[in-house]
Amino acid sequence: MYNLLKGKRGIIFGALDENSIAWKTAERAHEEGATFVLTNAPIAMRMGQIDKLAEKTNSEVIPADATSIEDLENLVEKATEILGGKLDFVLHSIGMSVNVRKKVPYTESNYDFTAKGWDVSAVSFHKVMSVLYKKDAMNEWGSIVALTYMAAQRVFPDYNDMADNKAYLESIARSFGYYFGSDKKVRVNTISQSPTPTTAGQGVKGFDGFIAYAEKMSPLGNATAQECADYTISLFSDLTKKVTLQNLFHDGGFSNMGVSQSVMEYFIKE
Ligand SMILES: NC(=O)c1ccc[n+]([C@@H]2O[C@H](COP(=O)([O-])OP(=O)(O)OC[C@H]3O[C@@H](n4cnc5c(N)ncnc54)[C@H](O)[C@@H]3O)[C@@H](O)[C@H]2O)c1
Repeated sequence: MYNLLKGKRGIIFGALDENSIAWKTAERAHEEGATFVLTNAPIAMRMGQIDKLAEKTNSEVIPADATSIEDLENLVEKATEILGGKLDFVLHSIGMSVNVRKKVPYTESNYDFTAKGWDVSAVSFHKVMSVLYKKDAMNEWGSIVALTYMAAQRVFPDYNDMADNKAYLESIARSFGYYFGSDKKVRVNTISQSPTPTTAGQGVKGFDGFIAYAEKMSPLGNATAQECADYTISLFSDLTKKVTLQNLFHDGGFSNMGVSQSVMEYFIKE
């Protein structure tokens, strides 16, 4: 441990169970000396085990639906009060598509479902930042990170409308990141993570085949949730102060691959 986040305060969205990327990030942030508030949607709290994580990391839990401005305002007010000052880091680790959940094919999208998934997975990031911005709740040189996936740039059919949501999320990071950077000296980035076996990940059709394919395509293999937590901590630390408006691939090299030898081996006829 390096004390990279000593004295820093934050909010971590999206820890559902111990597989969640946000869960691992909270554990690492605690190890690195940060104090933070954990939050998740009220419904997820009942299903998940967030209280266990809160106890382990000595943190409080404040429920908030990330699509509700009222909930977010309450969260930010209470978090700054509990933590005793403005925030240095925020992790947005939230994703959900109703079309994916209900197995509606992309070409048959139910647009009420599309709108709900877009609000939860993408617009919520704008809402979180807008509440932080208006309340002036971030310290200078603070860091805001959201998690995304490469389907924002390239076609992965089974990712369905989450691909569109991620493209929108990444654009919000740049657009809001401009204002947060120039007005408040706060950086905003997205981390584009490898497929990872979590509740959200496993909801995607054909996930097992896909994770195995990505593993064979990536020169360093897939990045795990634990490794994603490590990378996120580096972005919350003072070692990355001038990194902003970026979509940062954390995927063992997958995003720059055309084909790998081990994938070719399936197709080469002797
Ligand atoms: N698992 C993967 O393969 C993978 C790959 C790349 C990016 N990501 C992204 O990482 C992030 C975290 O997902 P994960 O894989 O850890 O899965 P996860 O299921 O553990 O986390 C998703 C979280 O979103 C929360 N959430 C859903 N609706 C919400 C709402 N209205 N308000 C507040 N929170 C809400 C859920 O309760 C849950 O905690 C997501 O943005 C996901 O798209 C995941």
